Amino acid sequence: MPTAALDLKESILALKKERNAVILAHNYQTGDIQDLADYVGDSLGLAYHAKETDADVIVFCGVHFMAETAKIVNPTKVVVLPDKDAGCSLEQSCPGPELEAFLKANAEKNYYVIAYINCSAHVKALCDVICTSGNAIKIVNKAPADRPILFVPDANLGAWVMEQTGRKMDLWQGSCYVHVEFTRDSINRIKAEHPGALVVAHPECTQAVRLLADEVCSTEKMITFCKNAPVKDIIVVTESGMLHRLRKECPDKNLIAGPTDRCACADCRYMKMNTLTKLHACLENLSPQVEIPEDIRSRAEAPLLRMLEQSK
Ligand code: 13P
Ligand code: SF4
Repeated sequence: MPTAALDLKESILALKKERNAVILAHNYQTGDIQDLADYVGDSLGLAYHAKETDADVIVFCGVHFMAETAKIVNPTKVVVLPDKDAGCSLEQSCPGPELEAFLKANAEKNYYVIAYINCSAHVKALCDVICTSGNAIKIVNKAPADRPILFVPDANLGAWVMEQTGRKMDLWQGSCYVHVEFTRDSINRIKAEHPGALVVAHPECTQAVRLLADEVCSTEKMITFCKNAPVKDIIVVTESGMLHRLRKECPDKNLIAGPTDRCACADCRYMKMNTLTKLHACLENLSPQVEIPEDIRSRAEAPLLRMLEQSK
């Protein structure tokens, strides 16, 4: 490794100590960031860690809504992220004012609103409970039986949860721009190249792709699935960062990136906005920080805590 990169890593670790900071990273971060983090995981594991840490500073290497979630459950801590512009197409598909207007216009339905964690603090503040891909089935199964459910913002994940639980829900029509790039043809082509391989896919994929998978699950559950799989070849249909952790934790497996029609794998441009240089800068300057108006934060906290309680 070049000396400059080594120096940067050492400097990040020294700053982390000085600031009494914890570095949390999502499974889709680049390998160099994952390797420096104190914890790498899915949205659910990250939310638990953000809530439980006793560090003074949380450095969140993921996208903005994830750092925002850490601040919602831990308002007294400083929460910084390497790039404040790291957004998410799902979050963008459901602006708070639009959901607010929709709920007002449909007030007579008395919706029980379940929000996938990939949304803004404003949207979280408008809903009854949050879920992640790791606990969505459990959360939907615990929804009151006498209320209609509105599920926001991911229509693909919502459709998968409906298939799994048999519970009907009205679905907001948002999607992850990365996961909808996988197609039936692109996955069938890679399956044909690796006969006998198993396929694991994220529930943000379309139904046509989910139907080709042997397992559909959150990024954290992909680790367990691949470790326990009785075959060597596994096609992993999700964002490319996942392969780094899988290859580290399942060295005996041949982990193959699921391709799209255009590329050999799928990168989330938002997740990949974070770099070691920006991570260093945010620790040094304690900026950019996540700030949330207190009325929104406190209203968003209740459904998040309900999720953490219900998914135990
Ligand atoms: P999980 O890691 O919780 O499965 O979520 C995937 C994702 O798309 C996060 O942006
Ligand atoms: Fe959002 Fe999709 Fe990127 Fe995850 S992979 S942050 S859902 S755009």
